[in-house]
Amino acid sequence: MSRDADLDPQTYYDEFADGEWERLERDPVTRMEFENTTDYLAAFLPDSGDESASDAVRVLDAGGGPGRYTCWLAERGYEVEHCDLSAEQVRIAREKVEERGLESRVTCQQADLRDLPFADESFDAVCCLGGPLSHVVDDAERADALAELRRVARSGVRTSEASAGSSERCSDGAPVFASVIGRFAMLRDIIKFVPDASHGLLAPIAEDGDYTAERVAEHADGEGWAACHGFRADEFEAELEAAGFEVETLVGLENVAARMKRELADASDEAVADVREVVRTLREDRTAVDCSEHMLAVTRA
Ligand SMILES: C[S@@+](CC[C@H](N)C(=O)[O-])C[C@H]1O[C@@H](n2cnc3c(N)ncnc32)[C@H](O)[C@@H]1O
Repeated sequence: MSRDADLDPQTYYDEFADGEWERLERDPVTRMEFENTTDYLAAFLPDSGDESASDAVRVLDAGGGPGRYTCWLAERGYEVEHCDLSAEQVRIAREKVEERGLESRVTCQQADLRDLPFADESFDAVCCLGGPLSHVVDDAERADALAELRRVARSGVRTSEASAGSSERCSDGAPVFASVIGRFAMLRDIIKFVPDASHGLLAPIAEDGDYTAERVAEHADGEGWAACHGFRADEFEAELEAAGFEVETLVGLENVAARMKRELADASDEAVADVREVVRTLREDRTAVDCSEHMLAVTRA
């Protein structure tokens, strides 16, 4: 955790922008987050199709940070719109895209999840990965952000000819992938890294998940990370359903390996492979989802 008086996510991700590109390959546990996420992207994304086709498959990477997933998607033939609240993250994402020669398939811009600058139903798939929704701490604003993600995704609603003009749901809406920060892992972080500086901070976060500037000022002398909402699995599913998404599955991206970064950093390749396999096996177990640092929802708009 670092010092950041107002815990504003935009300020934080501007200030600590450089480390973010490394985030998903820093250690075996963050690599599990990436590998498990891309497994589900590969399984649920529509086929990227023929690169020469005029109707390219369009994917939004909202809160895309330094562009890891944007590059992964563009390398697989998708046309990607990347956006992020932090101007620095957008700058880095552009740099990474250019380094890889992917600029013909990617556009990067600064934008807020709560007010996306895209037309209704303009994407064949939408990603919001690695916690952007957790940084929208206010419940009503987070509902706005979810509504925005759904608005820009191609819908599964089709006009039914039989019932002239009325509409009905089909299950072929665009896949929307969102991963958020788990509440239990957030509590463990505080216990692990700042137990002596955080008297009184754990109980309210256990109650409602909100790690806010006010609480950090009151209980932890202003010493903190970016403001954040830590989710319970059932709560995340309920918010998604309230926003109109059909939830296909929730995935615990690190589950039993959560917070084992240091322990696994020096472990043998065989030991890490063993852990990775168990994490894979348990990743859709609801308790494992709840214990994860990040939980991924695979949904349809
Ligand atoms: C941990 S990073 C994840 C970045 C990337 N998706 C990944 O997984 O590597 C969280 C990102 O969410 C962005 N973010 C936070 N609040 C946001 C908002 N309201 N709108 C857009 N992006 C936001 C931050 O700027 C940051 O880049």
